[in-house]
Amino acid sequence: MPQAALDLAASPSHSELKDHVHARAKNYVLYRGDSLALLEAFEPKSFDLIFADPPYFLSNGGFTCQSGKRVAVEKGSWDKSNGVEDDHAFTTRWLKACQRLLKPSGTIWVSGTQHVIFSVGFAMQQLGMKVLNTVTWYKPNASPNLSCRYFTHSTELLVWASPGGKGKLQHTFNYAHMKQENGGKQMRDVWALPKTGDEELASDEQGRLWTMTTPKPSEKAHGKHPTQKPIALLERIVDACTDTDSLVLDPFCGSGTTGVAAVGKGRRFVGIDMDATYLDLTKKRLDAA
Ligand SMILES: C[S@@+](CC[C@H](N)C(=O)[O-])C[C@H]1O[C@@H](n2cnc3c(N)ncnc32)[C@H](O)[C@@H]1O
Repeated sequence: MPQAALDLAASPSHSELKDHVHARAKNYVLYRGDSLALLEAFEPKSFDLIFADPPYFLSNGGFTCQSGKRVAVEKGSWDKSNGVEDDHAFTTRWLKACQRLLKPSGTIWVSGTQHVIFSVGFAMQQLGMKVLNTVTWYKPNASPNLSCRYFTHSTELLVWASPGGKGKLQHTFNYAHMKQENGGKQMRDVWALPKTGDEELASDEQGRLWTMTTPKPSEKAHGKHPTQKPIALLERIVDACTDTDSLVLDPFCGSGTTGVAAVGKGRRFVGIDMDATYLDLTKKRLDAA
């Protein structure tokens, strides 16, 4: 059952990780620290799935609209850009560390907007990873654009990749389950959850477009994180790419949405964040899951 998590803790690299344990239970371990350093301490080929919602480098003095008000984009110092070159170097470093940790059957999902996702895709190609899909997540409740100089940003992209680029495909994909979830039609690479009334899309011959909003208030019952992902998004990913008892890693854990989806579905979870407050929030959510 939770053996692999315990095995992980008992691995030769344990001494490096031991001091960073923030919380643990039978089906999860949370580590506090810099992912760039901690990822190096795990055994190679340990994880079935990695979900990473990294810094998008958005907090650079711009403005957005929240509840009808103009507010500064200020997610945290971790979200500031250090310039294109340094940002890409950071992205490449943590992706390379994740590549080492994936089992041959494992995959990584990385979310992002245009501010980071091209760097993510390029780094994956540089590292010889295989990009499997680029899923577009449509957010029907996206904030309006205040400057009126752009189309309203209403999507995020999710790049799905396996660690090796060549040879036979080895990655886990629960194709039949996804098809069943999609009313018997092949699931497409445009997701929008939950439904918001796009009925003409719902009745489309090729299957449903699932509508997926930002997290519901009930998902913030234990506290708030500025960039919390909706649980439905992570449940879809966990369902698609793992089986019972699989080991799931999130190197930018935040409020622990990946963990809540993983543990809720009988998987085991390892989360890393540099911020103890967010790990406390993750623990509360996991213990309630
Ligand atoms: C975009 S948020 C993740 C939100 C998460 N997906 C959720 O649903 O709550 C990124 C998180 O990564 C953390 N972080 C940023 N840089 C980090 C680093 N180098 N090492 C560890 N954590 C980091 C931040 O504290 C932040 O909580």
